[in-house]
Amino acid sequence: MEKLNFKKKICVFISGKGSNLQSLYKYSLLKKSNYKIHLVVSDKHEAKGLIFSKNKKIKSIVINGNKEAFEKKIFHIIKKEKIDILCLAGFMKILSSNFITKLKIPIINIHPSLLPKYKGLNTHQRAIDNNEKFSGCTVHYVTEKLDSGKIISQKKVKILKKDNALSLSKKILRSEHKLFPETLDKICKN
Ligand code: GAR
Repeated sequence: MEKLNFKKKICVFISGKGSNLQSLYKYSLLKKSNYKIHLVVSDKHEAKGLIFSKNKKIKSIVINGNKEAFEKKIFHIIKKEKIDILCLAGFMKILSSNFITKLKIPIINIHPSLLPKYKGLNTHQRAIDNNEKFSGCTVHYVTEKLDSGKIISQKKVKILKKDNALSLSKKILRSEHKLFPETLDKICKN
């Protein structure tokens, strides 16, 4: 029987560049992959990641408006499309606990720090300012508490003396591009 039938259906939420979306998509094309990107959702019509998803002919939706309106609309779409797992890839809204509990599917997020350190924004500068020797990225389950759900996987990146927030963000982003698809694939396999 063809493996495609068993691939999990993934929805990816984005707000910006979408480089993590691209890495998730690239991995999904591998024969060994256990998932396929079924739907891309952006809360910003100017998100660059939408250009990629449209080019690849992935179903893509933009939902403007406040969080309540966004969640109401997308909830029904995710149910209708029978999505198995929701991935947040540079998605900048904080989802409500009501949405998370009602959705009843795993929601995972990629965050650019070694959680539980440096939740929230501006992670790279804060790590440098604190003279950390390492930073990195984390894939975790999403709960109503910001960047606090169960940690699934992490990748460490060394902070060099010459690093600034920009150079560190680039190095960590490269690690994100490996960690996120590999972690998602493992979850989908189980
Ligand atoms: C990534 O570094 C991701 O970890 C971060 O935003 C960037 C999105 O890049 N996410 C967060 O900060 C979420 N709190 P991308 O749009 O190129 O994937």
